Parts: sequence; C-alpha cells; structure tokens
Amino acid sequence: MLDSFGRKINYLRLSITDRCNLRCRYCMPDKGVPTTAHDDLLRYEELLRIAAAAVALGIDRFKVTGGEPLVRQGCTDFIRRLKALPGVWQVTLTTNGLLLPPLLNELCEAGLDGVNISLDTLDNAQYQRLTRRTHTADEVLHAVRLCAARLPTKVNAVLLPETANQLIPLAELAQALPVDVRFIERMPLGSTESTPATTAAIVLDCLRAHWPQLEPISAPRGNGPAHYFHAPGFKGCIGLIDAVSHGFCDHCNRLRLTSTGLLKPCLCYEQGVELKPLLRDGADDATLRDAIRAAILQKPAAHCFAQRENITEHKSMNQIGG
Ligand code: GTP
Ligand code: 5AD
Ligand code: SF4
Repeated sequence: MLDSFGRKINYLRLSITDRCNLRCRYCMPDKGVPTTAHDDLLRYEELLRIAAAAVALGIDRFKVTGGEPLVRQGCTDFIRRLKALPGVWQVTLTTNGLLLPPLLNELCEAGLDGVNISLDTLDNAQYQRLTRRTHTADEVLHAVRLCAARLPTKVNAVLLPETANQLIPLAELAQALPVDVRFIERMPLGSTESTPATTAAIVLDCLRAHWPQLEPISAPRGNGPAHYFHAPGFKGCIGLIDAVSHGFCDHCNRLRLTSTGLLKPCLCYEQGVELKPLLRDGADDATLRDAIRAAILQKPAAHCFAQRENITEHKSMNQIGG
C-alpha cells in the first residue's frame, strides 16, 4: 500500500530479539540494556500472524533481524514458516555471522534468500575493542566465506573514525569474493559517542583514489537504501548507505517491528503502533490489518538526523533492529 507521501511500502524488518552475543560500541550502551522478559517478546506465532496481515497490505519482503537473530532458539524454523506464507516473496537475515556456520545448511533449506553480515574491521584486536567481546574478525570472515558460497551475501561495515584504515581491506573482500561490501554512515541513534562519523562521500573519494575505475551501477540492486559501485575484476560490488549525509527517505519502502511488538514507521522517531496488546486481546485479522495500515499512514516524510534535538527515538539499535 502507499503511505501518505505516495511511497510504496513493501518491506518489513522483524526484530526477533533484542539480545546479542556482542556489545558493539555504537549499538549497545556500555552498561548493556535491561533484558526483556521472554513473555514480552512476540512469539513466533504472533510474528507470523503479523507477517500474514502485512502481506495482505502489499508487503512481500521481510528482513529478520535482532539484536542478533540467531541467538533466539528456533530462528531457522521461524524463517522456514515465514518464507512458506503465501505471498511472501523474499526473506533475508541480518546477522553478526558468529552463529551462522553450523546453521547455514538449515537456513538454505528453509528458503532464506540472502544474508547481511556485520563486520566493521578485519583487525582482530580492533574487532574485540569495538564489540567488547572476545570473538574475532577471522571468525566472521570464515562465516562470510561459507555463506558467500551458498547465498547472496553482503558485508555491512559501519563507518567509524577508528576504522578509517580498514576501508581498502574491507573493500577488497568484494574484489576477492562474490559479496557486496557496504559502508554505512553511523546514525546518531542508540550511540553514546558524539564523535562525527565518516561520510559516504569521503569513503567514495578514498575508494576512487585506490580504484579509479570504480563506476556507479544504475540497475536496482537489493531493496534497501544502499547505492552500488563496481570496479573491473571485482566479484561483488561496493555499496554506500548514506543515511545521515544524504538520506533516502523519499524512496523509503519500509516498516520496522521491534521484538516487543512496536510497529515503527521510521527509525528516527519513537512513534509507532503497539501490536502486542491487540494480538493478546484476541484481535481478528481485519483489526490487525487496520493497525498496520495506521502505522503506514503515520510514516513521516523523513528522518531528522541533522537536527538531533528532534530525534525522539531513544532506544538502542539492538532494540530497534537496525
Ligand atoms: P537489503 O539491502 O535489502 O538487504 O536491506 P538493508 O540494507 O536495508 O538491510 P540491513 O539490515 O543490512 O541494513 C543495513 C544498514 O542500513 C543498517 O545500518 C540499517 O540501519 C540501515 N538502514 C536500513 N534501512 C534503513 C532505513 O529505512 N533508514 C535508515 N536511515 N537506515 C536504514
Ligand atoms: N548506525 C548505522 N548502522 C548501525 N547498525 C547498528 N547501529 C548502527 C548505527 N548507529 C548496523 C549494524 C548492522 C545493521 C543491522 O545495523 O552494524 O549491520
Ligand atoms: Fe525511512 Fe525513516 Fe529510514 Fe528515512 S529514516 S529511510 S523515512 S525509516
């Protein structure tokens, strides 16, 4: 369905947990976040009901996200059931990759259409500092390689001042492997750090200095906000997600569901429609559809990252779902 600005809304991000096995500095606060009681999380059956109602309104692509979605028991089976719903065209997963290798077979069999893996640095010591845990970038890279052999795979690297020297090594992954490497401007959400982050334009200059033949790709690629570039000899593409410096809100196609059931029309504002009370009070399908329709019609024209005082979303990214 169209929102009140004429944008076609066809994509829903489903956060299935706010838990994570990492504590990335830009995503989760230092002290962590209070754990959500299991009963406050939407059950898989509830998520599937919402997905079916969303399909009826024209949403046919779903992103399973977290926190870290693979820490929730039964995630693979949920993906299988989601993909099997009539009218669901595409189901993809955004993960930190650490739990992916042993689940990859099952996920492929479940019909998963693609995986985005977060990896901000290839330097193991830096990875540990950024994630405040003892896992290594090498573990993630192993998951990227395995995954790229089976499914369309993207690497997400959030741009941070301390990882400026990682641009070329990360971009080289798209040269060596059939993966798209996307550089993401850090959004001023859920982050306690106020250091200005690198912009996509700076990244592009730096990449062009290294690969002068890097060219923009005009054909649409993916459902998301990234725009893509390719250089001769590259197996994958380079993507830029310039959420802060440019914004792409005039093409926004999406809603977000938090793991506790708040349906958010936009990342930047706390506003949304609470679906859990409806589900648990026995609402019928028509009522559920009306609630989703209401969220679509609440969708604002754009974010306000440039005027931080207007940002009303104070949850951290692991609670919102990225
Ligand atoms: P695909 O390319 O279809 O896989 O989707 P995607 O790029 O939207 O998904 P992913 O989960 O990998 O998100 C990558 C980054 O883009 C994250 O940092 C998201 O927060 C950011 N992002 C995704 N959607 C939006 C959006 O609607 N608005 C803004 N500002 N950022 C977004
Ligand atoms: N700005 C930009 N991207 C972020 N992510 C998490 N927090 C932020 C932020 N403040 C990214 C993760 C993951 C995706 C779902 O969102 O690194 O790749
Ligand atoms: Fe859409 Fe809001 Fe993201 Fe803009 S910031 S692209 S309107 S969700």
